[in-house]
Amino acid sequence: MSARINPSILSADFVNFERDFKTIEHADYIHVDVMDNHFVPNLTFGLPMVQRMQAVTPKPLDVHLMISNVDRWATGYAEAGAFSVTFHAEASDNPVALARSLRAAGARAGIALKPGTALDGYLEILHEFDQLLVMTVEPGFGGQALIEHTLEKVVSARRKIDADNLKVWLQVDGGIDETNIEAVAAKGADTFVAGSAVFKATDRNLQIDKLRDLADLGHKHANH
Ligand code: DX5
Ligand code: ZN
Repeated sequence: MSARINPSILSADFVNFERDFKTIEHADYIHVDVMDNHFVPNLTFGLPMVQRMQAVTPKPLDVHLMISNVDRWATGYAEAGAFSVTFHAEASDNPVALARSLRAAGARAGIALKPGTALDGYLEILHEFDQLLVMTVEPGFGGQALIEHTLEKVVSARRKIDADNLKVWLQVDGGIDETNIEAVAAKGADTFVAGSAVFKATDRNLQIDKLRDLADLGHKHANH
């Protein structure tokens, strides 16, 4: 199957989300960054905004929670109808219980790792999740450069997913653009968040198609 391209609306116009949704129709999912100015040093929006997005979005929402105390808050996003809810491993006391709660509420469950968080401790619980998000920048802001060493985790996660035949999507987020997506796909990522790379383009749909084609090319030349 084709690579998934999920534009991040962190780079959209915050008073015109509904209008901007219409400029990214070729997206597979819409990536929604929730930040609380506590887990990360930036603030976006919370559940009421995501509930409104859910009501007007033409695509399923891929919610990325960069918030503390996630065990308390994450399930509300699943109950709001989000297709996928990804929380940070660093912010949860009980990731497995939370994954089960998200799935019970009807969402796919995702777990995210900051660049400095090792993958090892999470490999044995990967089967409890539908998605692993390997952050390729420090979470908090769009427009940063990809941190190369994070791709080692992509390679290791891909090996584990294939070896155990897990149905886990392997997502990367941060600094993904037309110059590196092919190489990142070749290392085993299958789901790509792109904020500035999509929203800076004059024809965003064309850019989404281009990113997907490049990622598909990377999958053909996989080197993981
Ligand atoms: C960063 C967010 C990303 C961000 C990516 O913490 O999680 O989703 O929007 O933006 P780019 O693609 O511009 O690096
Ligand atoms: Zn994100």
